Amino acid sequence: MKKISVLEALKNTPVISEAIKVNGWLRTRRDSKEFSFLEINDGSCLSSLQVIASSDLVNYESDVLSANTGASFEITGTLIPSQGKGQKWELKAETVKLLGNADAESYPLQKKRHTNEFLRTIAHLRPRTNTFGAVFRLRSALSFAVHQFFKERGFVYAHTPIISTSDCEGAGELFTVTNLNLEQLAKSGKAVDFSQDFFGAKASLAVSGQLEAELLACALSKVYTFGPTFRAENSNTPRHLAEFWMIEPEVAFNDLSANADLAEDFLKYVLKYALENCAEDLEFFNTWVEKGILDSLGKLADSAFERLSYTDAIKALEKSGRKFEFPVSWGLDLQTEHEKYLTEEYLGKPVFIMDYPKEIKAFYMRLNDDNKTVAAMDLLVPRLGEIIGGSQREEREDVLKARIKECGLPEENYWWYLETRKYGSVPHAGFGLGFERLVMYISGIANIRDSIPFPRTPGNANF
Ligand code: 4AD
Ligand code: MG
Repeated sequence: MKKISVLEALKNTPVISEAIKVNGWLRTRRDSKEFSFLEINDGSCLSSLQVIASSDLVNYESDVLSANTGASFEITGTLIPSQGKGQKWELKAETVKLLGNADAESYPLQKKRHTNEFLRTIAHLRPRTNTFGAVFRLRSALSFAVHQFFKERGFVYAHTPIISTSDCEGAGELFTVTNLNLEQLAKSGKAVDFSQDFFGAKASLAVSGQLEAELLACALSKVYTFGPTFRAENSNTPRHLAEFWMIEPEVAFNDLSANADLAEDFLKYVLKYALENCAEDLEFFNTWVEKGILDSLGKLADSAFERLSYTDAIKALEKSGRKFEFPVSWGLDLQTEHEKYLTEEYLGKPVFIMDYPKEIKAFYMRLNDDNKTVAAMDLLVPRLGEIIGGSQREEREDVLKARIKECGLPEENYWWYLETRKYGSVPHAGFGLGFERLVMYISGIANIRDSIPFPRTPGNANF
């Protein structure tokens, strides 16, 4: 017998007339005298399949009437056109097997809607809710769209290391990786000697794959990475995770403007992909999570993003007449409240802020002719603020060495990076898109902890 998903059963094209088998979990049950309606969901789509279980079934009492919300089932039967509203097909059961019941008293996902805060405390069960099912299907679809975008453009998908001895962003937000026995060391009172450690040096989890992606782009021309990155940023905000996924394209022979073009094409592409392929889940977000999001995403996919220099952005903020919590002045970094003002109110659309003061950006960004700013770009979007950070890279060996020194970094740690500037150096540029921020942006989910199945944040790596 053919086993099909709920999604396939609901579509039923081409029509299947023979008996099929479906598995899933019970959402609700309604009983009448002659039969019960079981709403079966298997996560293949938002909708559930309506199953009609006749009271004539030999195990009707033990396997149907006793089943509670959350119970798992194996059901065989035939698909018949549905009389009811909302679905075209339903399943007339021939056999119903209750695989595992769920205790009605203690199962936390009874009918009533829970807050996302509560659901975070039961991250092991929340994938069974409509909201989280939809978010995780969207995540999957977007991952596929990412790969498809770069494949269509001839990029090479590169895997960069997760364990690294360099701090790409220079922000010192590193999780150390060690096999030293820390408890023993502490007891002995000796200083930690990383030369005795597994890698013979102090290693940490990568905050970015960029530096290695650059090495590869300087040979393969167009590469991208898509992997987990880790930051020990102790910021308890709705936009920061300690473990997040980042997509980092790196392109040889691109300048900052071409870099922004690529980022804009990329974001629009994945957005359109979601609109075309995740319609049911996006409708759900539009109704239950962020009203009107479908309309605004649709418009965005067809509109041109703005480009504004950091200097002009500061001027706009100063002229805004707004009272911001954080100060605005040339040389200071933009805070979320500033970013939101610029993209939501000042321009009302996504905007690339370009050419930031060198003091607030990483060492690898290309120094502009004014000697004050670097060829950086941050893409800000409404509802979120920064979604992409990128730059043209410093390809001049002498300037790069000077910047490394200026930033107080040990040059000897970057000898391999510097050699790409020594041999056949080329202008190149790239950016990083935070995948969870993308999921937030497209779903309307307001807290980044709800965009990834098992969020890692300060104080939480339990499950
Ligand atoms: O701006 P960031 O720090 O840039 C880089 O890491 C560069 N190496 C990228 C590159 O040029 N290849 O991070 C890039 C993006 C941010 O715009 C944001 O979307 C996301 O990564 N991000 C985070 N997402 C979740 N939690 C955090 N703690 C994040 N930090 C950055
Ligand atoms: Mg950034």
